[in-house]
Parts: sequence; C-alpha cells; structure tokens
Amino acid sequence: MAIHPVLRMGHPLLSQRASEVTAFNTPELDQLIADMLATMRAEDGAGLAAPQIGVSRRVVVFGFETNPRYREAPPVPLTVLINPEIKPLDDTLEEGWEGCLSVPGLRGVVPRYKHIEYSGFDASGEPLRVEAEGFHARVVQHECDHLDGILYPRRVRDFSRFGFIDELSAAGLLPAQATDEQP
Ligand code: NI
Repeated sequence: MAIHPVLRMGHPLLSQRASEVTAFNTPELDQLIADMLATMRAEDGAGLAAPQIGVSRRVVVFGFETNPRYREAPPVPLTVLINPEIKPLDDTLEEGWEGCLSVPGLRGVVPRYKHIEYSGFDASGEPLRVEAEGFHARVVQHECDHLDGILYPRRVRDFSRFGFIDELSAAGLLPAQATDEQP
C-alpha cells in the first residue's frame, strides 16, 4: 500500500478515456485499489479515480463518514467501483459545489443528476448495483467522469460560481462550512 501523488489538471492522463478492467483478483488490481484508498484517505478526498494516480483503468473509490473538504455532506458508504455505468433515474438536476484533488484550491457549482443508479463490480469482481441521490450521486458522477477524461470545470455552466476557495469564501459565495478547509 502506498500513497501516491495526485496528478493535476493538465496532465494528459486526466483527459484520456481509461480502459476497462478485464481481470479481477490480480495482485496488480488489488494493489491499485489499496493504493487508491490510501491516497484518498491521506488527501481527505471524497473519492478518487485511478487516472488521478497515473493508472488509466476504470476504477473509482469513494466514501466517508465525515469529510473535512465537504463538511455539510452526509456520509457516503465506502465503495470500490470497477467498470462503472451510471443510469439517471429521472431528469432532475441539482446544483452543488465541487472540488477535485486534481484541481487544487478551486471550487465550482456543477449541475448533476439528483437520482441515479450505478452498477459495476466491487473489488473482488462481484456485481454491484446501487441507487443513490444527492451528494452520494454527485460523487459517483464526478468520479466516473474522470474515467472519460472529464474534469468538473468542464461541467461548470455559471462561471461566476467557479474560482479559488479563499476568494469565493471572502465573497460569501461558498457555504461557511467550506471556508477553512484545505483544497
Ligand atoms: Ni476529481
């Protein structure tokens, strides 16, 4: 298990489509998952996608009890999700603030589907199918976007609500819970 540096926006791996996992329960995959969980915890991330630590595979991890980066967020179950697919359960979009370990220091408001069902495989290759809403659904959509080479700034529509955390906080635009956090 090792904590890896997180690649930042501009690194070519972050704008590529990651490839499917084809073999489960291999030392390589198990190592990747352990490293992703360790790196996510070390960075206080709500989630992490494999390309962010330099591995262009369709693996994401997410979940927390409480998160200092998103203090008002409800708990999200700790999940390893491989070869994910997302199905919106209705057309409702919800706006919410997002950040990204690959885009340090910034936050932006991003519309996401409010209700989704996601499916894929867990760490041991067992099929997984979960309904999620709100912040849970948002995190899954954010992380899965990484696998298609999409960082959240591409999803921002209103650029008056995208910027540096300290500036947004000083302007009273970010929720108070987010003001003293590190990116
Ligand atoms: Ni991200």
